[in-house]
Amino acid sequence: MNIDSGAGLLHRLTSYAPGREWDVPVDDPRVRHDLVPNDPRTLPPPVKLYPAGAKRIALPRDLSDPGASATAVLAGAPAPALPLDAAQLGRVLFLGAGVVRTAERAGRRILFRAAGSAGARFPLELYASTRGVAGIPDGVHWYDPEQHALVTIGPAATGAATTLIVTGVPWRTGWRYAERGWRHLYWDAGTVLAQLSAAADSTGLAPRIRSLFPDAAVSTLVGADGVHEYPLALLTFGDREPAIGPGGPAIPGDLAEVELPLCTAAQRAGDRDELGEPWPRGPELPEHPRSDSLDEVIRRRGSQRRMDRSRRLPRTVLDWPLTAALRGIRIPHWVAVHGVDGVPPGLYRWPDLSTPLHAGDLRDELLRIALDQALAGDAGYVVIAATEPAGLDDRGYRRAQLEAGLVEGRLHLAAYALGASATGMTFLDSEVPALLGENTDLTTLLFTCVGVPQYAARAGGTPGAPVAVRPVLPRLR
Ligand SMILES: Cc1cc2nc3c(=O)[nH]c(=O)nc-3n(C[C@H](O)[C@H](O)[C@H](O)COP(=O)(O)O)c2cc1C
Repeated sequence: MNIDSGAGLLHRLTSYAPGREWDVPVDDPRVRHDLVPNDPRTLPPPVKLYPAGAKRIALPRDLSDPGASATAVLAGAPAPALPLDAAQLGRVLFLGAGVVRTAERAGRRILFRAAGSAGARFPLELYASTRGVAGIPDGVHWYDPEQHALVTIGPAATGAATTLIVTGVPWRTGWRYAERGWRHLYWDAGTVLAQLSAAADSTGLAPRIRSLFPDAAVSTLVGADGVHEYPLALLTFGDREPAIGPGGPAIPGDLAEVELPLCTAAQRAGDRDELGEPWPRGPELPEHPRSDSLDEVIRRRGSQRRMDRSRRLPRTVLDWPLTAALRGIRIPHWVAVHGVDGVPPGLYRWPDLSTPLHAGDLRDELLRIALDQALAGDAGYVVIAATEPAGLDDRGYRRAQLEAGLVEGRLHLAAYALGASATGMTFLDSEVPALLGENTDLTTLLFTCVGVPQYAARAGGTPGAPVAVRPVLPRLR
């Protein structure tokens, strides 16, 4: 990875290190110094806005639960195929990105979505380019996550198979995290894809994820300008060619036009003009524990804000979630074990849990590396995704971040399915290679904490009927 341009430069300039607060920009003219993080006066709207006259299609709000258990779906067990109609498409969209909870904070209404998002910034948009979906005309549609409706923004695309397009709005997360928010776009896209693909798998819709696609064409397809919004990933139903060739211009919609030039450059450096193969799905797991249905687990999912460090997790709640979350994934993972029956505390390189790389209690060290956020020390274990930078080009970097996000999203579902809890976690980049005993170049991607919940969050609501909650705040050290 070239650390002097593109994604490598962004990674370097947005790396956290001790001695500099996370919201203080690094001393380099290529990052913006004129932005005030979390400034209520510049808060971007939570979703893209379209003209009132645009054609809207209400999706059925009554979601029938097909009943597939969350663990069966995560294990890759085949499910009977249901036809892709408006209700099924709506179910997949809702379970990936619908508004499930709302909260008031400092006079603002926050829309919590089905999948997690770093700092609850929810910087993604979701579009469906439909082909032969019963009840939905062929076309390009934006998903309205609050109303559970589609807004038609463009004509039918060329290509055969209905495809979901996940885009990112860098300013929506940059408003708090500045240029580091570009990494969050890919993390968050991973958590959304974990839930979209699980929902699609549970009704035999054969989701195919791609991270390599022609960026310019897909941007035109959904009306993204490549600066304030850009495409991150595709999910196609089935094996036929994705419907992504623009059939004409799209209604662009409205976004706050604040640019983070370092993010634009990182994104552009990875742009390509080819369609890649779908991601490998990984072999089906030979067995899976019992669990509630995927739909119930997704509605229950949240990010645990307080974990009980006095209680340990059973060994199966380490082995099974990691095995399931890493199906088909190529980036390496490590596990810092704090409190798991049958596994002595220490740091391990997955899947070898027999010999720790360092033995001993790492709670304080993880707390320090996670910027003093208590969850990293209170969890039963912390999963760490990191990769060698050698051979990683600008597109490969995007893919690695997306894979890490997908693993985080799947770990969440597996943990909640088995009665545990989880949360994503940020980190001091500079401190991770030494923790892992690796060379200092290692590119750290993402942490996920899994632990015993200290409280049960309220389950999320249904389409158009989110549940109002009072969020619990995490403890600092
Ligand atoms: C990639 C990612 C990184 C996250 N990092 C942190 C973190 O560093 N600290 C924290 O307390 N929560 C973290 N979270 C949890 C978010 O704050 C949480 O997802 C968000 O508030 C939405 O709440 P929900 O997941 O309960 O819907 C992270 C979540 C994701 C998906």
